[in-house]
Amino acid sequence: METSTTNTSIVQKIKIETELEVFESVSDLPKTIQNLMNKAQEARENAYAPYSFFKVGAAIALESGAIVTGNNQENAAFPSGLCAERVAAFYAGAQYPGETFVAMVLTAGSVKHETTSPIPPCGACRQSLAEYEVNQGIPIPIYFMGVGGKVVKAQCVKDLLPLIFDSSYL
Ligand code: THU
Repeated sequence: METSTTNTSIVQKIKIETELEVFESVSDLPKTIQNLMNKAQEARENAYAPYSFFKVGAAIALESGAIVTGNNQENAAFPSGLCAERVAAFYAGAQYPGETFVAMVLTAGSVKHETTSPIPPCGACRQSLAEYEVNQGIPIPIYFMGVGGKVVKAQCVKDLLPLIFDSSYL
């Protein structure tokens, strides 16, 4: 099978760049985000993760001021479980239809060892979150961390998933 291309057959090269901001600790974030992260930490502690021993908590601030949280819900039939981000986003979509997501925060860590490095949302969650960002037309800043340590801020979902698949392709 021929897989190589000659330089002359390439009509365009696209470079994708993302800038993420890294904070030393959660205490360096605005008070509203610290408060949101506290809610996500609480949610993380209540995660149902008896198989992976990896607990994830998510919190979303909505335009009305409401805060929605979620955590990962595992299942004996492994693929039937769901990530914290989607539990939170789908709950927000179900309970507060059409409300803008103002910000989202995530915290994750193993029950078995200390997790201090920031844990980003998985690819499937990025795609799910993209749907809300595209629909609301306003970027959703996402902050993610381990259990302690540094926090990473992405300005929007698109920065975490540059080639979003959205309904315009359908
Ligand atoms: N998990 C999440 O909740 N969010 C992610 O973005 C990545 C993974 C959960 C799924 C599973 O319950 C556990 O973490 C280990 O993969």
